Amino acid sequence: MEPPSAPPVEDHRLGTADFWQRPAEERDEVFARLRAEQPLSRHPAPDDMLGIGERDERPFWAVVRHDDIRRVSRDPRTFRSGAGVLFGDAPPQMLEASMSFLAMDAPRHTKLRGLVSAAFTPRQIARIEEGIHANARRVVSEAAEGGSGGGDFVELIAKRLPLLTISEMVGVPEADRERVVEAADVLVTALDEDTWEGIPPLQKMGQALWTLTETSTQLAAEREHDPRDDLMTALVQAEVDGDRLTHAEIAAFFVLLAVAGNDTTRHTTSHALRALTTNPGQRALLIEDLDARLPTAVEEFIRWATPVLTFRRTTTTAVELHGVEIPADEKVLLFYHSGNRDERAFADPWRFDVTRDPNHHLGFGGGGPHYCLGASLARTQLRALFGELLRTLPGIEAGEPTLYRTPGFIHAVKTMECVW
Ligand code: HEM
Repeated sequence: MEPPSAPPVEDHRLGTADFWQRPAEERDEVFARLRAEQPLSRHPAPDDMLGIGERDERPFWAVVRHDDIRRVSRDPRTFRSGAGVLFGDAPPQMLEASMSFLAMDAPRHTKLRGLVSAAFTPRQIARIEEGIHANARRVVSEAAEGGSGGGDFVELIAKRLPLLTISEMVGVPEADRERVVEAADVLVTALDEDTWEGIPPLQKMGQALWTLTETSTQLAAEREHDPRDDLMTALVQAEVDGDRLTHAEIAAFFVLLAVAGNDTTRHTTSHALRALTTNPGQRALLIEDLDARLPTAVEEFIRWATPVLTFRRTTTTAVELHGVEIPADEKVLLFYHSGNRDERAFADPWRFDVTRDPNHHLGFGGGGPHYCLGASLARTQLRALFGELLRTLPGIEAGEPTLYRTPGFIHAVKTMECVW
């Protein structure tokens, strides 16, 4: 793919719903121009897309280059997460009930993350890898044996492996799993009209949050009486500074996991199949030596998809970047998808290259204390799924995806027809 040519840089308004409704190519052109000419830029406060009324009128700074995103991510003393990480505003109660340690600073962040990180180390993930492969086989064979020769890839395949993985890790009973995923989806795609179903987005999000909180609270109560070998049991038994976690704290982590663990991996899967379809040479190259090439290819899948488009930080003190002083207490937005197409960091960044190595993409964040806790888990799932998929249905092809309208947040595929 050709790098985008550049429109006038003054044209952009990164915080408006209007900007995010423009075709992806146009937006990419704006980011290419910003990277080249204005690596740090300041923009009016984002539109109040959820309609919450109480707006935070402060402007925000846009960080668009790969090395700047890494620098900001790795300097949590200057750029904190505890004042919120989302692009747009949301009601504080909603944030408190859903963000958990993603939106905390040390020392609380370190303690809470430390509690659960043991379950996500590469070593621990290697222990459950067998189960992930078995689930990947099940997902692909059930789709293949369905007999229709195709259908909506998201429903048939992409959504299913993350759902099984997270549910089994946390200990969500089968009867609740679909409900949990649907509620997590609503939180991510609340701004899309298809998600509303006639209910205002904020109310719809409130309902979804309630579903997740209730499921978590019930599960926590069950595990207190009947411990098992799962993450929920670890959470109800854990202590921070001598105190047990409250059910509300556990629920906020449950919501974070349900969202972070399901949507990201699913959308990467869909974007990757689309990229393999539009780049048949890359697919052939991958299939030629599948097991050896998959680990490298998966990194390119994540770079290419960049399912998380942005997260935010807030300055704790005045700081200089590109000769410009950002005052204290200002919002700084990290545009990961722009960093992942940065010409300074990637040779020919618009080329989908399953052999790209090294591939220091920012799909899991720019490093630092908030670097994606589920990175090993996501990589293992993507390897398992594409291994099964390309062995069982090597000719599977995807049509043009329909994307959710999620301005500047998640690069989310709503539906994508596939045939094999
Ligand atoms: C391809 C899949 C995934 C992508 C692209 C992704 C992306 C990200 C990003 C960009 C961050 C924020 C990094 C930062 O602020 O520096 C993050 C954080 C996080 N992710 Fe992932 N993620 C993925 C899969 C997962 C999975 C499977 C799980 C868990 C089951 C997970 C759990 C988390 C958690 C708990 C955090 C918060 C970490 C913290 O604040 O300390 N993610 N992820």
